[in-house]
Amino acid sequence: MHTPVGIIGAGPAGLFLALLLSLEGIDSVVIENRSRAEVESTIRAGVLEQGTVDLMVEMGIGERMRYEGVVHHGIELRFDRRGHRINLHELTNGRAIMIYPQHEVVKDCIAARLQQGGQIFFNVQDVQLAGVDSDQPVIHFRHEQEQVELHCDFIAGCDGFHGVSRAYIPLSVQQVYSRAYPFGWLGILLQAPPSARELIYAYHQRGFALVSTRSPQLQRMYIQCDPQDDIANWSDEMIIEELQARLVTDDDWQLRVGPIVQKNIVAMRSFVIEPMQYGRLFLAGDAAHIVPPIGAKGLNLAIADVRHLARALTRFYQQQREDLLAAYSATCLKRVWRTEHFSWWMTSMLHRFPDDDPFQQRMQRAQLDYTVGSQAASMSLAENYVGLPFSV
Ligand code: FAD
Ligand code: DHB
Repeated sequence: MHTPVGIIGAGPAGLFLALLLSLEGIDSVVIENRSRAEVESTIRAGVLEQGTVDLMVEMGIGERMRYEGVVHHGIELRFDRRGHRINLHELTNGRAIMIYPQHEVVKDCIAARLQQGGQIFFNVQDVQLAGVDSDQPVIHFRHEQEQVELHCDFIAGCDGFHGVSRAYIPLSVQQVYSRAYPFGWLGILLQAPPSARELIYAYHQRGFALVSTRSPQLQRMYIQCDPQDDIANWSDEMIIEELQARLVTDDDWQLRVGPIVQKNIVAMRSFVIEPMQYGRLFLAGDAAHIVPPIGAKGLNLAIADVRHLARALTRFYQQQREDLLAAYSATCLKRVWRTEHFSWWMTSMLHRFPDDDPFQQRMQRAQLDYTVGSQAASMSLAENYVGLPFSV
């Protein structure tokens, strides 16, 4: 079997790439090692940057998002029992964010791609790459007991942090930058009405807490915790009590509670591999970089990568020019490092570190006061939060 672009992974990166290429008349095949049902139900990110929203509308996959998604014009930073609103809309000349869950984005992409007659193999096994430094690389995999050889002009490694693609960049070529954080996030889905009109990021002596939302009936919340902790150690009552303690205010704000329908703990890391390309293999999204979740950047960064990749491949097929392909890694890495910095900065400002001392805590407080009190500092937070414009 032959395809111009073989795409490994049916997450946001792989699916957006397939759809962007098809808009330019370039075919591709997506292979995914999980089932369609699993891919469509994994709970992950919830916040779309303005640029991601605009791109979905341009691509013709924004219909359901426009009805079911909710636009937020601000966020709250909460510390010392008080909330401080950051008016994203005013500070960014009218930009905003959209609350629309990642698995809904993925559902919309899969439906659109299958409707076009595009090929997605789910439940594949034993994915291996060959000849990535030649101009006819091959993806080998098993599907429904059959061994398949997918010959490609290019391979896009969109298989997330635990995928196989990244390992095909030789160790002698790759440089890895990473940081593990000494805390994780305990995330829950709570059946209750929203407790606030906008997201709340809370700094507290007991640790960070975040109030987010998924729908009018389902709320997403997180608390900072020990990354090694076992979720079995956390009863529902303990989680609610911890949220209430970290979010407490001097006014009459109340957390609206209900049954917890899902809970888990995620570790937190920053990670970047350079370069993001080797021969005819191009990495995109979590396969190439991870940011700690605060600020909700991972999904949006994945989309920015594949937007560049689709442009570069289009230039190759339509004008026989390789300049954008050659610049792919360097172009993406500019945004990647900006986003790495922003996510690290938000993480550092809002979490309690096990080794922090009173001086360190005063530094965090000074930064929080400055961020909410200075127009320049609020503006910097706001423009990064809604997402910097795509560079080209
Ligand atoms: P993924 O979404 O990881 O997609 C990769 C796909 O490749 C997966 O479907 C996987 O099954 C498939 N795959 C893996 N290996 C293979 C293989 N060998 N062969 C074929 N297919 C393969 N970001 C936020 O912004 N906010 C959040 O709240 C948030 N929460 C998160 C919670 C968790 C548990 C995780 C893991 C991530 C979270 N993220 C969050 C990050 C965000 O979800 C990711 O940045 C985003 O999914 C990246 O998209 P992607 O397409 O690059 O990778
Ligand atoms: C969500 C996650 C984040 O990391 C964030 O900063 C905001 C919202 C969420 O899952 O809803």
